[in-house]
Amino acid sequence: MDILRSPFFYVGDKYKLMPQLNKLFPKEIKTYYEPFCGGGSSFLNTKAERYIVNDINFYIFKLHKLFKQNAKKEEFFVNILFDLIKKYGLSCSYIGINVPEELKKKYVKTYYAKYNKEAYKKMRDDFNINQANFYLLYLLLIYGFNHMIRFNSQGLFNLPVGNVDYNNNVAKAIKSYLNFLALNNVILKNFDYKIFLKKQSFEEKDFVFCDPPYLISQSEYNKIWNTEEEKKLYEILDDLDKRNIKFGLTNLAYHKGNKNEILLKWSEKYNCYSVNSNYISFNDNTIKKDSKEIYVTNV
Ligand SMILES: C[S@@+](CC[C@H](N)C(=O)[O-])C[C@H]1O[C@@H](n2cnc3c(N)ncnc32)[C@H](O)[C@@H]1O
Repeated sequence: MDILRSPFFYVGDKYKLMPQLNKLFPKEIKTYYEPFCGGGSSFLNTKAERYIVNDINFYIFKLHKLFKQNAKKEEFFVNILFDLIKKYGLSCSYIGINVPEELKKKYVKTYYAKYNKEAYKKMRDDFNINQANFYLLYLLLIYGFNHMIRFNSQGLFNLPVGNVDYNNNVAKAIKSYLNFLALNNVILKNFDYKIFLKKQSFEEKDFVFCDPPYLISQSEYNKIWNTEEEKKLYEILDDLDKRNIKFGLTNLAYHKGNKNEILLKWSEKYNCYSVNSNYISFNDNTIKKDSKEIYVTNV
């Protein structure tokens, strides 16, 4: 099975781990539940009869919704994006709107950022006027620094331009996600994980996969995570186990000299595997070899 990349290129994206994780997931999954779905790389690479996926982040939820609503309308969807790209004057290597050669020579490593800077700012200002056009938000994510979704304390999208554009990888990821949504039953939710899990009535052969924020590393979404949340999540998973509901969880056990004691202690009750990841933090793009990620499951 080819690994599909989510078109959101989300920080903490699990796509590289999916071949390893899939081997440890139940062989047959009826409903796949994912309370912290982020960009969606995990469910996108898992076979199930249906998917009920959730994230607390309203904007990533809206972006998934935008894709779902366009699942069977790929041409319509990408044409809206291309029209906006042309309207703002962004580069788009996928459709041959290239950065001029002289700029490429002058700014060998940063020419996309140089070329797109003003157009990106205009697009960001327009989005911030009423934040209702999620096509604009998607393009802000694609052209933005590290493909992040970030808002300031006044609620304005405030990420600077990135050094990328809409290229073949973006086009491929859009196509495969729209195709996945067209062929599969995917239900999207926008709750806190505790409420999301409480609302479900699980059946045999269902599976809950959790990829929560990491307690011991830094990331935009880790700001809303803490020790209390971590403990609560493990209590909920213990409860699922008592009810014979299968679950799996990935998390960082060690990172930059930090150790997640709560996780390590809790994991002793279940099956625990080491998974190889090249952990990249958003504010530190170097690959950290002193990180250890684990997968804990009652399967
Ligand atoms: C590690 S990321 C998931 C990445 C995802 N597996 C992927 O491949 O893109 C964790 C996610 O948990 C979400 N999150 C944080 N706190 C949450 C909460 N209390 N309830 C639900 N989702 C939450 C964040 O918005 C973030 O998208």
